[in-house]
Amino acid sequence: MNIILLGPPGAGKGTQAQRLVDKHGMRQLSTGDMLRAAVKAQTPVGLEAKAVMDRGELVSDEIVSALIGDELDAMGDQVGAIFDGYPRTAAQAASLDDILAARGRTLDRVIELEVDEDALVERITGRFTCANCGKGYHETFDPPKVAGTCDKCGGHEFKRRPDDNEETVRTRMAEYRAKTAPILPLYDARGIVSRIDGMADMDHVAAAIESALAG
Ligand code: AP5
Ligand code: MG
Repeated sequence: MNIILLGPPGAGKGTQAQRLVDKHGMRQLSTGDMLRAAVKAQTPVGLEAKAVMDRGELVSDEIVSALIGDELDAMGDQVGAIFDGYPRTAAQAASLDDILAARGRTLDRVIELEVDEDALVERITGRFTCANCGKGYHETFDPPKVAGTCDKCGGHEFKRRPDDNEETVRTRMAEYRAKTAPILPLYDARGIVSRIDGMADMDHVAAAIESALAG
């Protein structure tokens, strides 16, 4: 199965993708994670992307589509893909169709996480991850079971994303409204969109996604 998780910043794409990975052995393809890895490694892509990401704007379609194609080639044909944060523009949606067709894959479902924008700033500014294993947390909604210790690996160091400040989040939301939301009608026309209440708690969102994928 190949699916897209679509929704504004903080909607819960990464949180839900991780659950699908754990439960079904699917593979999470997050262009945001790939770009952050490139920034950290100071590759040419990373050097070009850093300032754009820090402003909350979108990196070029060519760069992200190339990253997705490379990741798909690196994983086995039998593993299902969860596209997290990709596609984000009409051009990326067209590229994804070509990328999948060239690899004999089809797009089975688009999950739109519907959220109330006012709640997103709180979600994003409270977010942090384990510096060692990358597990995600939230200060209020999903803190580690033992404060200061990662549930998954026992690590004690945590980090925050440089673009997780209120000003950048507002730009990221505006980019979503202007460039990403308009691609939904394309998938609606194919009858493959499931709309899910992303304001419910994480377990309920996960259960709703499971039933959308089963149905
Ligand atoms: P990216 O990394 O994709 O960021 P984003 O779309 O802004 O989304 P987030 O990762 O912030 O949110 P999420 O939906 O994953 O939420 P999460 O699950 O963490 O992109 C970053 C940047 O990279 C872009 O701005 C752009 O510059 C560039 N980029 C990336 N892809 C690109 C592309 N295709 N084209 C061009 N540029 C691209 O949840 C957030 C928090 O809320 C967490 O703390 C979590 O614990 C909590 N939470 C989650 N669900 C719930 C819930 N149901 N209830 C309460 N709390 C919850
Ligand atoms: Mg994410």
